[in-house]
Amino acid sequence: MSYLLNTTDSYHVNELNSLGWELTVCNALYPENSPCRGVLQTKASLGVNLYRFLEKLIPLKKVHNILEIGGGLGYLMRDFLSLNRRLKATMLDISPYLLEKQKENLKGFEVAFYENDILDIDVDTLASYDLIIMNENLGDLPTLVAYPGEISSTEKNTAHYLEKANYFSRKYKIPFAQEENINIGAMILLENVCRAGVKSVYFSEHSCESRVPERLKSYIKIESSEIPEKISLKGHDEYTIKFSYLQKIAEMFHYKIKRGPLADFLPLKINRKVLTTLRLKTPFTAEQEIIQQFIYDLYKYEYMVMIKVEK
Ligand SMILES: C[S@@+](CC[C@H](N)C(=O)[O-])C[C@H]1O[C@@H](n2cnc3c(N)ncnc32)[C@H](O)[C@@H]1O
Repeated sequence: MSYLLNTTDSYHVNELNSLGWELTVCNALYPENSPCRGVLQTKASLGVNLYRFLEKLIPLKKVHNILEIGGGLGYLMRDFLSLNRRLKATMLDISPYLLEKQKENLKGFEVAFYENDILDIDVDTLASYDLIIMNENLGDLPTLVAYPGEISSTEKNTAHYLEKANYFSRKYKIPFAQEENINIGAMILLENVCRAGVKSVYFSEHSCESRVPERLKSYIKIESSEIPEKISLKGHDEYTIKFSYLQKIAEMFHYKIKRGPLADFLPLKINRKVLTTLRLKTPFTAEQEIIQQFIYDLYKYEYMVMIKVEK
């Protein structure tokens, strides 16, 4: 099997000038009058729902230094800082354009901003944070894409990541299948975070292992191939994440893991109107289309919370 390397760094650094093309769950829920809030039991933003969810799992009162990687427009952090004034926040992003947006949206809060690729950050720096948040961006990190044909010469970067994949397969007994795309960037980051011993970590991303509960299967159709799947977006491709591999690595570093669909903490208000909207093959209105996509995302995205078990 040959591999090609999919990367998104050049797009994020040189081309990205709007997040409008990628309506993230965070941005879809942020406006108070968002129709997406109307289908949730809580009717609140992603940041508020996530904070309330995490405080049941992590002693958030003891968290001081929090790092958000790839914070987009900065809305999630704005909610966290409004709910907990003691947090000392750092925003790290590869995109100069989005970092400027974060500075505007986090005005009035004390926040440090860094323009960096997270894969260039060393373990010692990661170790200075009590909590790391990474929402909807693991799939942006490099992916080794399986290619059935022959490739005449393997690029230097690709060869480096292939060596890393061999290392993960040996060290953590990751059973990569033939023809499987490999979330190599996500695995490298996860290992760095584990090595740093960060006490709590939250990741979320499109998953290739997502499941819809039985009672909703006739309303929400999700195919999960169990192999990282390509998602084509404006100017770049991303790949869904195989969370079970990340879980395996984290458990070897003695992390306790909680995983599931975003719907676990963004619970749907299931009523006749919502079910009728989900049933429509062709939505009649833009609002119905947005809601269909939003509810699909609540199940296609997985979160993974990692909590370091103290010896
Ligand atoms: C799809 S957006 C998600 C934004 C935000 N977290 C949200 O949920 O709305 C991806 C974010 O990750 C950032 N990003 C992508 N690759 C990155 C990398 N290698 N290092 C740091 N940030 C990165 C992008 O610039 C952007 O802010």
